[in-house]
Amino acid sequence: MKIYKTKNYEEMSRKAAHIISAQVTLKPDSVLGLATGSTPIGTYENLVKWYEDGDLDFSGITTVNLDEYKGLPRDNDQSYYYFMHHHLFDHVNIPDGRTHLPDGTKEDSDQECRQYEELIQSLGGVDLQLLGLGHNGHIGFNEPDDIFPDDTHCVNLQERTIEANKRFFASADEVPRQAYTMGIGTIMRAKKILIVVSGADKADTVKEAFFGPITPKVPASILQLHPDVTLVADEAALSKID
Ligand code: F6R
Repeated sequence: MKIYKTKNYEEMSRKAAHIISAQVTLKPDSVLGLATGSTPIGTYENLVKWYEDGDLDFSGITTVNLDEYKGLPRDNDQSYYYFMHHHLFDHVNIPDGRTHLPDGTKEDSDQECRQYEELIQSLGGVDLQLLGLGHNGHIGFNEPDDIFPDDTHCVNLQERTIEANKRFFASADEVPRQAYTMGIGTIMRAKKILIVVSGADKADTVKEAFFGPITPKVPASILQLHPDVTLVADEAALSKID
């Protein structure tokens, strides 16, 4: 694992955006795996800026996102579809129809997850997968478990996730109970992985995930077995590493 320690969130975001830009420049028809959450927002801001400056061209790029809530319409501002359009897709020249997320409006979970997995395979797999890190070590919606789930699948959200997300919705009833997510196998099949982490509140998780035993109780710990992982983290997130 390559580790880049940055001073702060801004520098982390620039470094991560540089790594993604290098991928886009060196392989203009790359398949990029993307993430939502607060951590990659600054990375996307840099990519948008460099596109606007004329330094980046996404016209050959295809994207697949990690996950999506089940049952949320795409125009709901909490859907990951909405997030990705708001932060990236509406501002760069990735062609329409080449940005993919699991479709949360599809009722048949097995069919939607199988089709998503087949889609990724038909694209030739993911060249570079961007990840964030959950406080409990989750990646995508793969929560601590007894096993590492392989393919894209439907997960029941844990009660504390529903509780934590309640504030973003009009009422607790509107918080989705399920989500579609790439599996750990799907993530591990990406050719390269870039994981971004910021903040002292993630320092223990970084230590456990990347310097502790590999266990499905800390899903991100499996990344230690991937041959090409880059961790870009700020000083605060790396503060528990000697
Ligand atoms: C996002 C995702 C999640 C987040 C993780 C960290 O698509 O799948 O695993 O990456 O929850 O979220 P933040 O960046 O908000 O701390």
